[in-house]
Amino acid sequence: MYQRICTALRWLALLLLAVTFSWASQQSLCAQTGPPNLPPATPPPSSSAPQQEGASIWIYVGAVVALGVIGAIIALVVLQPNKSKKEPTLSYSSERLGDYRLLNLLMTGQTSQVWEVAEISSGRHFAIKMLLPECAKVAEHRRFLFHEAEVGQQLAHPNIIRVVRIVRDPNVPHFVMDFFPGGNLKLRILRKEWDFIKEHAQEILKQAATALAFINAKGWVHRDVKPDNLLVSSSGETRVIDLAIAQRIPTGLAKIFRKKGKIQGTRSYMSPEQIRNEPLDGRADIYSFGATCYEIVTGRPPFRGTSAQDLLNKHLTEKPISPRVHNPEVTEEFAQLVLQMLAKNKEHRPQSFHEVLMALRKIRVFSAVKKSKT
Ligand SMILES: Nc1ncnc2c1ncn2[C@@H]1O[C@H](COP(=O)(O)OP(=O)(O)OP(=O)(O)O)[C@@H](O)[C@H]1O
Ligand SMILES: [Mg+2]
Repeated sequence: MYQRICTALRWLALLLLAVTFSWASQQSLCAQTGPPNLPPATPPPSSSAPQQEGASIWIYVGAVVALGVIGAIIALVVLQPNKSKKEPTLSYSSERLGDYRLLNLLMTGQTSQVWEVAEISSGRHFAIKMLLPECAKVAEHRRFLFHEAEVGQQLAHPNIIRVVRIVRDPNVPHFVMDFFPGGNLKLRILRKEWDFIKEHAQEILKQAATALAFINAKGWVHRDVKPDNLLVSSSGETRVIDLAIAQRIPTGLAKIFRKKGKIQGTRSYMSPEQIRNEPLDGRADIYSFGATCYEIVTGRPPFRGTSAQDLLNKHLTEKPISPRVHNPEVTEEFAQLVLQMLAKNKEHRPQSFHEVLMALRKIRVFSAVKKSKT
């Protein structure tokens, strides 16, 4: 807005200058020639009068031209948008970002970092996701970061990380969210924390499914459901994160006139329709949730490929083997639910997360652990 006002003022000043010049040159021409072919109505009172009249016109013309030039200089130099627009920049160092002290670097991705921070005024802990310096000025990366934050703000739910504020700083674009201790579920799988997983799997899955039901009900598809994007506390409390590629579920005419975007997602968890770049709805998240469940109970995703394309082909065509083959402690009912979520045809999956939740309330994930006789 400010930039537009400046531009308008500059144009106005230039216009003024042009009008002033043309008017001034016209006046000086008149002063030199006088009215053509007309005898003077009255004789001049004295011989010095025409000289005085000519001089006063030149003083007047000079003053107007000078004013025009000064106006133009003010508009061009002082009001020049790029110079006058002081961009609000935050104080940023390796220890501090604005009002926050940077405590622990939680992850460095391709475009961003996530930090655990402490608010200086209150001492409360938060998490900050910020673009890396080399990505901060790239419009596409900024758009993704702010998209993630804005969708997060729209989706306020106890099992989705709360976005507290968005800071559109030109040098360090970032957003502040609640810090959730405990790390992501992928780490626990990689660390083979099977006792923890057996104890909490049912609750983790219920809480994640509740959040995903809410996301879908609000008209969004997450598109990146996977163990890395589930934060889990030591008591099994769960929060869904990373709405970076969340997309509106197209409805009505939007389904037909949909702009085909880039294929996005994480290969090990992508639904066949996501791979084919078809319009998505909540059932795409159900497929990814099925792949996530598979990995939680077996330690491995449903498909592995020799190449990226091989992996994607398996999602499209290969029948997954039962998770019970990898882990016999998984109940038959849960294995069936997982395989149903992994159906290639979305019509054959549970049709909503409410259906998944109902099933999860009825069945057990793991069979009761047999106590060995002593
Ligand atoms: N609010 C939070 N509280 C605690 N840890 C968090 C929080 N947000 C993110 N993390 C940690 O940072 C990791 C990465 O976060 P996130 O999934 O948002 O980034 P990403 O989009 O996967 O990054 P990139 O796409 O740039 O690789 C999470 O798996 C988690 O370990
Ligand atoms: Mg992530």
